[in-house]
Amino acid sequence: MAEPSNNEMPLLTGSDDDFARVGSLLKSSEFDEETVCRILRIDSLSNLGAIKPQEADLSASESQSLRSLIKLFLLLEAVRCEDVERVIDSASMDSLLALDLLRRGVFEEGDRYYSSVFLYPVAGFLIASDRHRSADGSPFVLPPDAVFPAVFIGTLRFLRIISTSPSQDALDLCSGTGIGAMVLSRCAERVTACDITARATHFAEFNRLLNRCSNVEVLQGDLYSAIADRDFDRIVAHPPYVPSLSMEQIYRDGGETGETLVRNIIEGLPRCLRPGGTFYSVCAGWDTREGAFEERARRWLGDAQKDFDVIFAFNNDMSPERLARQLAQQSSDGRWDERFADAGLERLVYGAMVIDRPEREGDTEPLTARVRLGALTDGECFDWMLRWRRNRAQMEARGELAFAISRAKPQMGEHLQVKVTYAVEEGTLAPAEVVLESIKPFLAATKIDLWMMPVIANFDGERTVAEAYEMARNCSMIPPAFQIADFIRLAADMIERGYLEIR
Ligand SMILES: C[S@@+](CC[C@H](N)C(=O)[O-])C[C@H]1O[C@@H](n2cnc3c(N)ncnc32)[C@H](O)[C@@H]1O
Repeated sequence: MAEPSNNEMPLLTGSDDDFARVGSLLKSSEFDEETVCRILRIDSLSNLGAIKPQEADLSASESQSLRSLIKLFLLLEAVRCEDVERVIDSASMDSLLALDLLRRGVFEEGDRYYSSVFLYPVAGFLIASDRHRSADGSPFVLPPDAVFPAVFIGTLRFLRIISTSPSQDALDLCSGTGIGAMVLSRCAERVTACDITARATHFAEFNRLLNRCSNVEVLQGDLYSAIADRDFDRIVAHPPYVPSLSMEQIYRDGGETGETLVRNIIEGLPRCLRPGGTFYSVCAGWDTREGAFEERARRWLGDAQKDFDVIFAFNNDMSPERLARQLAQQSSDGRWDERFADAGLERLVYGAMVIDRPEREGDTEPLTARVRLGALTDGECFDWMLRWRRNRAQMEARGELAFAISRAKPQMGEHLQVKVTYAVEEGTLAPAEVVLESIKPFLAATKIDLWMMPVIANFDGERTVAEAYEMARNCSMIPPAFQIADFIRLAADMIERGYLEIR
């Protein structure tokens, strides 16, 4: 039968009419994230891989065309031709075939349609990437240049941490399907997507046309090589970062320690990121005996490093020993332990790296910080933290911070949770420990003194910090040694961690 061979390039960039017709078929059939997740009973399309096509229950869909589209493009099934033709109009069928989204094949059970690609809704776009299984159940080998699925959990995290504030010229490096570039196209004037493989470049161009993103251009090249001497005010990247001895799986392999591409991208920022611009990335790197990942990233910026602020939002980690064991299972080379030890690698950390190049005023020390990535952390959280930390440092340097905070009117943060542990004390249960927690802007947890809890509840957005202090002092809620300067520092730290917010 006519199966897509692994090396064959699927998809044809047909006419505008074909793209428009396919777009309107998918839209009118409600082939959108919310609807397909509801029908497939999953929280996120990143869970699609867990669904076995033969076990999928599509009874929640009243629309016959949506059922067929889900079977063809999400579950990657081959569907009887008459079943598809009955529910999809012939003009749309012609366009699906003209764009090579659908193919007709002769299977043991008769003629069937199957998709040449995996096609899904994500972040409000329709995205095609490579299939990950064959249509007839025969063994499937992923090609080395396989186009990475934009519904992978890491990509969804990457899309979330890209700021939605306006920008002029944006660049998506290692763009794969081009999903990062398309997300950027909503807030940037012009966007460039670059990937090293011809296959990813072809898919991204197809996706750009399908989604009518006229301000996106797609280029092929090794990292910055395709953009010559152009610069950008926003650069984003979700590069490969898995340690590997060969660069066989192009979407995954990141060189011996996994950091080759991450490092090359960061080294290019002084040349390609304009003052006033920001870089957003999801990646992995190492804490080593030379320093934490974010400190090493700062050094990769070279002589220009004092112009940049670096924040790494940690998500999870792995010891070199555990990673070495995992890698040894996948390859015949078992010397990973030795290699990691020789390189002084202490801990692999994964998360979001954001590097900002502010137009600096004065001699403010550049920021290098590690925070914890929360489920709700997005690009705006990074933008806020960078602004806040810079303002805080500048005001502190000018001796203006205490005055500004004392006049602020914070209120309890939307995501503040106060966790109280009770312990038995002299035969009764008494509060023994209070921990403040927040998941936005970043994950934070801080143990506080018991007396602070009612004081925090006094922040109502109406009272200034100075008034809240006076009130607490008058009611003897504060220990005598705790002065207004201490209270102001406490309030500033609480704002930084999201326990308090100024709206
Ligand atoms: C993990 S995938 C991410 C794709 C996409 N950004 C996403 O988030 O879904 C990494 C991508 O980097 C590309 N890539 C690998 N090495 C590259 C290089 N030297 N220059 C540009 N792109 C590269 C691969 O082809 C692949 O598309």
